[in-house]
Amino acid sequence: MSTAEAAADRPRVVLGVAGGIAAYKAALLLRELAETGHDVTVVPTAASEHFVGRATWEALSGHPVATDVWSGAVDVPHVRLGRHADLVVVAPATADLLARAAHGLADDLLTNVLLTATCPVLLVPAMHTEMWLHPATQDNVALLRSRGVTVLDPASGRLTGADSGPGRLPEPADIAAACRRLLAGGSRGRDLEGRTVVVSAGGTREPLDPVRFLGNRSSGRQGVALAAAAAARGARVVLVAAHLDVPPPAAVEVVAVGTARQLRDAVHAHAAGADVVVMAAAVADFRPATRADAKIKKTDDPGQDPVVVLQRNPDVLAELVADRSGATPLLVGFAAETGDASGSVLELGRAKLARKGCDLLVLNEVGETRGFATPTNAVTILGADGGERVVPEAAKDVVADVVWDAVVPMLATAVLPHPETGAP
Ligand code: CTP
Repeated sequence: MSTAEAAADRPRVVLGVAGGIAAYKAALLLRELAETGHDVTVVPTAASEHFVGRATWEALSGHPVATDVWSGAVDVPHVRLGRHADLVVVAPATADLLARAAHGLADDLLTNVLLTATCPVLLVPAMHTEMWLHPATQDNVALLRSRGVTVLDPASGRLTGADSGPGRLPEPADIAAACRRLLAGGSRGRDLEGRTVVVSAGGTREPLDPVRFLGNRSSGRQGVALAAAAAARGARVVLVAAHLDVPPPAAVEVVAVGTARQLRDAVHAHAAGADVVVMAAAVADFRPATRADAKIKKTDDPGQDPVVVLQRNPDVLAELVADRSGATPLLVGFAAETGDASGSVLELGRAKLARKGCDLLVLNEVGETRGFATPTNAVTILGADGGERVVPEAAKDVVADVVWDAVVPMLATAVLPHPETGAP
């Protein structure tokens, strides 16, 4: 395959960069997109060149860079770039850029591209908290969202200088995940707006003594991807996080837990008002019956080696099924299966769905190199109604959206109280 053919196969992304201090993080986003097979053209605003120079964008993207519509006018770049893009992402999007985009101004190359783009558009705001919360900015964001533009909520945390609050640019990996989601399936819009979802993620650890624990290999990536996708689709998300290997996404409430029993308490506390609970965490079925107060020492006599006695942990998902009243919350379980003499992965999944009594079960085959701590997953979504949807191997954030695609119509048909009025 020629280089030109290889480039033609790659999704074409226009990365707009507006003039904020977070512009430097766009270089990391560009590198991640380029390394994962995207053909990226950077369109900075003139103001952003105060923060990052165009040599950086040209070197990392391999394409020339322009800020105005007059450079290379013979190619009509403002029309070509917008029309040919598969995705336009602007990170950071400043208050000024959001205002210009909302009102259809076209005074530089980036705003021209936004007006000519027919593909999904993702805007990633970053600014001081006051600017983000100002009614002018909030109205502009609402207007853009009503037109189908995806606008991520900024992260909370330290901003330029000593202040902190909502306004930080989300991590480049989170923005790249949002880009992949839009490229994979277009915009789902905010079909979880007004809903509250609880997602458990990661793996619990059961202490043996102050320094040792029984744990598992779950990285939390799939649960984090589910939480990020739900937040992008407008849900209020509570992420019950047990020892994640990856940072939690912006715009979700994180409740950190360690053991299965702590996870159970946190999930029960938040399940009460939730529309959906997704149990993606790998919860330890057993814990050591006793926890030593001091580090367990070895002795010279191998006959004295300690024996660990295990005790059952609560089954959180089964408890949620037993506790729920009516249709709420909708319960989604996960099943990690290897298959064994008693049945295939699919047979064990069906049996587990029947045993657990949840509404959906996301089944994945695991092994030493499959399922855990990898960026991809291949799953089958089993419904209590007998439905079955096979999701071939895909990035975990793409799998996450397919799971929500299965949940959303069930929320619409279940007789759930209206999120604001409380009426059925
Ligand atoms: N789960 C739970 N509480 C536990 C164990 C599991 O809530 N103590 C949940 C998991 O979060 C997952 C589902 O139950 O959503 C299935 O987990 P899995 O480990 O596949 O199954 P188990 O019920 O533990 O059954 P087994 O290990 O015997 O296959």
